[in-house]
Amino acid sequence: MRTTVVTGAASGIGAAVRARLETAGERVLGIDLRDAEVIADLARPEGRTAAAAEIRRACNGRLDGVVACAGIGPHVDPAAAIVSLDYFGAVATLADLRDALAAGERPAAVAVSSNSSSLPGADGPIVRSCLAADEDRARQLADELGGHAAYAGAKRALALWVRRNAPAWAAAGIRLNAVAPGAVVTPLLRGGLDHAVFGPAIRGFPIPTGGFGTADQIAAAIAFLLGPDAAFCCGSVFFVDGGSDALLRPDDY
Ligand code: NAI
Repeated sequence: MRTTVVTGAASGIGAAVRARLETAGERVLGIDLRDAEVIADLARPEGRTAAAAEIRRACNGRLDGVVACAGIGPHVDPAAAIVSLDYFGAVATLADLRDALAAGERPAAVAVSSNSSSLPGADGPIVRSCLAADEDRARQLADELGGHAAYAGAKRALALWVRRNAPAWAAAGIRLNAVAPGAVVTPLLRGGLDHAVFGPAIRGFPIPTGGFGTADQIAAAIAFLLGPDAAFCCGSVFFVDGGSDALLRPDDY
């Protein structure tokens, strides 16, 4: 039986990934603030360390998949928390569990980025601080620049981290990829829709296929990237966003 770690497994996309994998007969070890096998706060360094130690014990040092999905949206205050969870929590989970993945069966990992990662304002000093592993500076910049810059920057840095690390991970036998979802109906999106500034921006965001997506549509892409049909996928950033990124950046990819 394959064993996969899913962070943020208690809700939304993470819960949809858990449902898909368990339906396929796989074992899921969830990490979340609640309703999971491992309860931990991945926004904090001590929570990350404790979670990785508990997972290593639970899986006897051997994992077949990791999905770094836990995240909070751009509406969350303080914005420093966004970079701490959405970038540093995700990267720590992946890095801390790499050895266990290397001992797994055709192992694969997926990071959940966002199509916000390619929006104007995404690239900037927050991305550089994240990739330089300077969490204090990234948190300071996030609080200065606000929720959009923090979220888009953290998600862009996460996608770039995947691309930078995928070749070395492949050399260790592990496929590492990212998904970049567009707006999908989950509690995170509802929090954004309820926000005075982000709500109108999210409602006005163009989606060529029409309407928001579902958590299961993202889980389907993640399950594909984890599975044998994606054996040649490595370092991909898979946009699953109803065509918004193609609409906004037709001449880039
Ligand atoms: P959600 O709010 O439904 O689920 C997020 C999960 O993360 C929850 O179970 C929550 O308890 C957990 N979590 C929050 N803070 C945590 C912490 N400090 N430590 C551990 N776990 C924590 O959100 P959703 O929409 O399922 O989001 C999942 C991922 O997808 C996030 O990384 C998000 O940024 C990304 N995403 C979501 C989009 C959307 O429209 N819903 C669009 C693009 C990306």
